Amino acid sequence: METGRTITLGQTRADIERAAGILRSGGLVAFPTETVYGLGADATSDLAVAGIFAAKDRPRFNPLIVHLAEPEAARDLAEMDHSAERLADAFWPGPLTLVLPLKPDAGLSALATAGLSSVGLRCPAHPVAHALLTATGRPVAAPSANPSGKVSPVTAAHVLTGLDGRIDAVVDGGRSDVGLESTIIGLTDDVPRLLRPGGIPAEEIEAALGRKLMPPEKTEAPNAPGQLASHYAPGALLRLNATDPRAGETFIGFGPGAADFNLSPAGDLREAAANLFPILRELDASGIEAAAIAPIPNKGLGTAINDRLARAAAPRPSGPSAGA
Ligand code: TXA
Ligand code: MG
Repeated sequence: METGRTITLGQTRADIERAAGILRSGGLVAFPTETVYGLGADATSDLAVAGIFAAKDRPRFNPLIVHLAEPEAARDLAEMDHSAERLADAFWPGPLTLVLPLKPDAGLSALATAGLSSVGLRCPAHPVAHALLTATGRPVAAPSANPSGKVSPVTAAHVLTGLDGRIDAVVDGGRSDVGLESTIIGLTDDVPRLLRPGGIPAEEIEAALGRKLMPPEKTEAPNAPGQLASHYAPGALLRLNATDPRAGETFIGFGPGAADFNLSPAGDLREAAANLFPILRELDASGIEAAAIAPIPNKGLGTAINDRLARAAAPRPSGPSAGA
């Protein structure tokens, strides 16, 4: 998938169908939205979402925005309270992302939400984005379509400058006219919070809500998952870079060899990234108290996997809300 060339598709029905087919089969497609171009993957597939992090060379698994064709679809994935309904009504489709409590049976990849119990949702207004999302028929996770640390792209040519050969396709839909990412509003506690300023001015959102927006909680800022040391801690104590399990430890392998769980028997980092959250979850579900994890090479996606494992293994703050 990453070895071939990136194809450029236009806006014909056949092109959109082709792009949707690539997304449904787990590929990566960059597409225009009115804010910036997004790098899309099937949000229900761990392996597809892992591909986003690989293509962007992201050093961390931060939560991605999940894009929907229709506002109604949000209710299947997240708890929509009165404020959420009001903002969705007023600004969707458009450059607004709502961070909402995730429904447990939403069926989204845990990698798309970075294992959080919330999800960022957005219905883009761009007609090409809308057509692609409709044709795909699934939620599509998409960060901006640029290599990590680079400027967000607003044309297909910008996308190719950064990601040519690393993604399957880009749909060329002209220049994104907002040119600024979506405004992100957090609605996971009693007060609406401005998590990221963006395409819709905060004042317009406050007017629609009839109340003031609060700043993010320290633990809820857009990049907070990276800042809160033990945010993704499973119940088990984790020992990293272990070549063998000690007595009483469950062994999580990487590469060939005996193990209770294996992030990737083939030693493939993308597969390991896709299996990471499901395995951590499985440790909790099985009530495992101690686990040892094989060394993961610290290159490519391995950097993000090691970052997440280091957080999961960090000493826990006491208190009920530390995990996610
Ligand atoms: O305009 C946009 O928002 C573009 C287009 C492609 O839709 N997307 C975009 O995605 O800017 P990205 O990945 O570059 O930014 C996503 C931001 C991150 O800062 C992330 O932390 C925040 O959204 N986010 C997503 N889900 C979240 C959640 N559950 N809790 C807190 N923050 C979340
Ligand atoms: Mg970005």
